Amino acid sequence: MATQPNTNIYSVTAREILDSRANPTLETTVILESGYRGTASVPAGASLGKYEAVEKRDNDAKRYGGMGVQQAVEIVNATLAPKLTGKNAADQAAIDKLMLDLDGTPNKKNLGANSILSVSLAVAVAAAAAYRTALYRYLNVQFSVYERTPLERIPTPTFNIINGGKHGAGNLDFQEFHVVPATSKPYAEALRMGAEIYQSTKKILLYRNAVHSVGDEGGFAPDLFTNQDALEILTEAIRATPYRMGVDVFLGLDVAATHFKKDRTYQIKDRPAAYTSAEFIDYFKELQRTNRLLLLEDPLGEDDWESWKALTKELGGEVLVIGDDLLATNLDRLKKAIDEKACGAILLKPNQIGTLSEFFAVTAMAKQHDIKCIVSHRSGETNDTFIADLAVAVQSQYVKFGAPARGERVAKYNRLLQIEAELRQQ
Ligand code: PGA
Ligand code: ZN
Repeated sequence: MATQPNTNIYSVTAREILDSRANPTLETTVILESGYRGTASVPAGASLGKYEAVEKRDNDAKRYGGMGVQQAVEIVNATLAPKLTGKNAADQAAIDKLMLDLDGTPNKKNLGANSILSVSLAVAVAAAAAYRTALYRYLNVQFSVYERTPLERIPTPTFNIINGGKHGAGNLDFQEFHVVPATSKPYAEALRMGAEIYQSTKKILLYRNAVHSVGDEGGFAPDLFTNQDALEILTEAIRATPYRMGVDVFLGLDVAATHFKKDRTYQIKDRPAAYTSAEFIDYFKELQRTNRLLLLEDPLGEDDWESWKALTKELGGEVLVIGDDLLATNLDRLKKAIDEKACGAILLKPNQIGTLSEFFAVTAMAKQHDIKCIVSHRSGETNDTFIADLAVAVQSQYVKFGAPARGERVAKYNRLLQIEAELRQQ
């Protein structure tokens, strides 16, 4: 970044587009005085955590079932754009602070995390273009203000091969059943493993006469008797490939337990009686003994802190216990988790917090405390590949972009192939 280009903002324009679930979302374009431009869109979750920044929806039942984002578009075009015009797009912290001050709430409910994030990301894309720098390099320089991070590797992908919970049409309680290549695998090889195991899983479902249509994140959404059955299908699928379970590839789960927790208990189809928190921890101990999971996300509810601490104490040495709904990419919640040793990893989703600067602050805090990082998509996505560049920029250990199928998922995996090739040439 030797020469200083003109990165002053000329215009900011949002529009309503569709996401991968036929719901509206925002796409925002920032044009600089120098003519360079950047566009970004925001994703949306289905299994929303209580502590996430809130997205602005029109709630007009006559349009898109209330899911329209015309108000959010108007906020960008009429409220944010006039304040941002003339400001320096390369000063991400100042741009984000200006929007946070205008919103004035802790959870961004005035202006909406979707409005704010679309601008925050598009500003960075435009500035990177003005510097004629690849987005991941530009973001890496920005992130290095928070935490110096050399660009070394492509994060390891974790593939959501079977979709349950709020993402599947089937009957599984757990939301995501993952296969995870060993971190030692070069990215292109890890992607190939994911794709081959995906195809192998399809064959096994066909052989068993099970439904093999796909859920929201591109993974299969079969009806099965138990959640354990899904893990067995993945084990069988891996056995039918040359990859060795426990050496080349591992299993992972996003339980998303908040979304089936009732009162103080967890009811799943693997046992008729509901589990107390203590019993559910014992269930995971047994699951761990039989399946040797590598990743275990949201095994307990987002407010069940004491149980998170107990589970991490028992299992944290052998499985990476990941907080998603628990932490909501939120600095205060991450601090609490670090103090209380409640988990070993954080799922990082830009739209859970709403600005790039806050995302960087949370990520830096995690890295400084040896909390492993997983940069993640949402179940409702667009073809935007920003998070692929972002994951490389912050050098997260893992990325979670869904199954290696469906355009909005594959776009991100393919972007990582491009970046891998570029890094190899440098
Ligand atoms: P969501 O699910 O995007 O529907 O919230 C993703 C996750 O829970 O990790
Ligand atoms: Zn999750």
